[in-house]
Amino acid sequence: MSEHLPNLDLTLFDGSRASTSASHKPRILLLYGSTRERSFSRLLVEEAARLLEHFGAETRIFNPSGLPLPDDAPVDHPKVQELRDLVLWSEGQVWCSPERHGAMSAVFKAQIDWVPLELGAVRPTQGKTLAVMQVCGGSQSFNVVNQLRVLGRWMRMFTIPNQSSVPKAYMEFDEEGRMKPSPFYDRVVDVMEELVKFTVLLRDRQEFLVDRYSERKESAEQLMARVNQRSI
Ligand SMILES: Cc1cc2nc3c(=O)[nH]c(=O)nc-3n(C[C@H](O)[C@H](O)[C@H](O)COP(=O)(O)O)c2cc1C
Repeated sequence: MSEHLPNLDLTLFDGSRASTSASHKPRILLLYGSTRERSFSRLLVEEAARLLEHFGAETRIFNPSGLPLPDDAPVDHPKVQELRDLVLWSEGQVWCSPERHGAMSAVFKAQIDWVPLELGAVRPTQGKTLAVMQVCGGSQSFNVVNQLRVLGRWMRMFTIPNQSSVPKAYMEFDEEGRMKPSPFYDRVVDVMEELVKFTVLLRDRQEFLVDRYSERKESAEQLMARVNQRSI
């Protein structure tokens, strides 16, 4: 057994021992994956944002139009900065991509590829909550939500169990861009309610939850190397 193995302070699970106790509205960023004028992935996140606000959250929606391809512009490009600022602001996120050739859209993936795992000492996505959704032109598929779950893991996020996949999305919205009542709409309600609950539960405990043994060990070793160098 390694001497580095962690001791868990289980009293941290008691709400009164959380590192902070935020009282502001949960901050949710919503991303969608299309630049089409009547984009159903955009309409779906707009519907989701209304529900999140109903459940007491504050929301922001990022418009991907004008975002350069990853690495095709300097990081101080205004759209890149806008996206990164929103990611830092958020405590939870909703990702909604259309299915294109059985996969998430390039427009969606480009957004995530502009978000680094580390920005200085800050980890912009680590430990934040995530809800995944997709729209399809065809019959129901879960290809994209499955891919978004993998992507969420790569970004070290907590993806909630419930999810939404809207088949034949062109049939589910009215002329004003509102989602028609249906079991698919009810599912979106369920997903947003669950996201708010998980965000409130997890946001004050991020430091505790994402603290990794291997990273603590690495920094202990780096520290040792530095101390040894000084003593040479
Ligand atoms: C190039 C292309 C590929 C597509 N591939 C799929 C697909 O594999 N499965 C599917 O259900 N719909 C597919 N669609 C339909 C889109 O998912 C659908 O039009 C969706 O509403 C597009 O998202 P948006 O409305 O946000 O632009 C495809 C559409 C395009 C243009």
